[in-house]
Amino acid sequence: MERTLILFKPDALQRGLAGKILNRFEEKGLKIVGMKLMQMSQELAAEHYAAHKERPFYAGLVRFMTSRPIVALALEGIGAVAICRKMMGKTFGCDAEPGTIRGDFGMSRSYNLIHGSDSPEAAERELGLFFPEGIVAYDLDAFCWTYDPEDELKG
Ligand code: RTP
Ligand code: MG
Repeated sequence: MERTLILFKPDALQRGLAGKILNRFEEKGLKIVGMKLMQMSQELAAEHYAAHKERPFYAGLVRFMTSRPIVALALEGIGAVAICRKMMGKTFGCDAEPGTIRGDFGMSRSYNLIHGSDSPEAAERELGLFFPEGIVAYDLDAFCWTYDPEDELKG
């Protein structure tokens, strides 16, 4: 099992798309193990986007991400990181394929609705930033039909 951090960015909430986007992940079969509405602080944004600090878009990105509330989501599943990245699509809605979240809901070269961790290592770091209290561990009964219990869920 793998976990990933997803953020619904301010534009997703302001456009009333949080429910629709969450629904896609639930329908795909990912398990929600953390979910919170929050306003990102400057400090959290700086830590989360530390890798982009020298990039020309950094200041605008931090301004955008701290401007309104976001939803932080921890999702679990086999290969969750890569699966969620595929579901998100290319970085900007204008380039992303139809059928992806950014491709279906976005037009912008700037506002792009959603963040998803880009590797298991990044996911671990980012989940620690947004869920320092830890995630909620519980049995999701649907997993017995999402995966083959005799094969994929063993061990
Ligand atoms: P994310 O981190 O948000 O999941 O998106 P990503 O991996 O597809 O994109 P990344 O390269 O990590 O960039 C992080 C965020 O910075 C903004 N960005 N703006 N104006 C630009 O050229 C530019 N490039 C990136 C986007 O909000 C992107 O999601
Ligand atoms: Mg990224």
